Amino acid sequence: MTDLCRSFAEQIRAKMENRRPQTLIILGSGLGTLAEDIKEKIIIPYTDIDGFPHSTVSGHAGCLISGRLHGSEVLCMQGRFHLYEGHRPQIIAEVIKTFKLLGICNLIVTNAAGSLREEMAPGSLMLIADHINFSGRNPLIGPNDDAFGPRFPDVSNAYDKEFRDRLKNIASRRGISLQEGTYLMVAGPNFETAAEIRAFRTFGADTVGMSTVPEVLAAVWCGMRVLGISVITNYGTGMRPQTQSHAETLSQADAAANSLKLLINDFIGEI
Ligand code: HPA
Repeated sequence: MTDLCRSFAEQIRAKMENRRPQTLIILGSGLGTLAEDIKEKIIIPYTDIDGFPHSTVSGHAGCLISGRLHGSEVLCMQGRFHLYEGHRPQIIAEVIKTFKLLGICNLIVTNAAGSLREEMAPGSLMLIADHINFSGRNPLIGPNDDAFGPRFPDVSNAYDKEFRDRLKNIASRRGISLQEGTYLMVAGPNFETAAEIRAFRTFGADTVGMSTVPEVLAAVWCGMRVLGISVITNYGTGMRPQTQSHAETLSQADAAANSLKLLINDFIGEI
């Protein structure tokens, strides 16, 4: 497995010329337009990286973009890998290790999520302060590669406190409303039942989604600092009369993408 990340890193390095980005941005469902602002782009389709996993979900393009955002070099994953597509969680760890080998030390991760809080309506943004891994899976299971991180990583500050404070300051300066809370990950692919949503609310979760936790666990393990933001696309099942749909997720994500773009641009300019 370790050889996989080295092979991916070598192939990506060869296509990135001499660039050395320190920040990776992962774009969630319907949030691909955030990549539009990246300048001097080099686009690397996942299919051009031998052995790299592919994205199979609509709303996820499936490429790496290297370029400049707000004057800083960034690398962006337009399209991520979900457990419900059949990807093993360990391949997500290999992808994160690849970026570590390329010199990435900051991860900005975004997702589309369902709200579990009445006052957090679709179109809201939530800064992730913590998570609950309810997926039943973990990308760090298996032999531990001590060159990247410890066997039993501490995750008490997984969503870096200083990064969160910085984003809250940016949001208040910009007049953008930003909630803060706990993201709960399910494996999917079905939306939750109403009973599950009631249970998750009693757990203390504020949003629910099908991604992010594997990437964050792998990133924290190998020493990256993480900023996570959920775009609320719907209320949890049973909180409103409507049924759930992926089309609704994409359209609400698009509506909130502009505010998210402003926050991320300013954040990149400051780190
Ligand atoms: N549940 C799980 N994942 C999601 C949801 C949801 O309600 N909305 C967007 N992604």
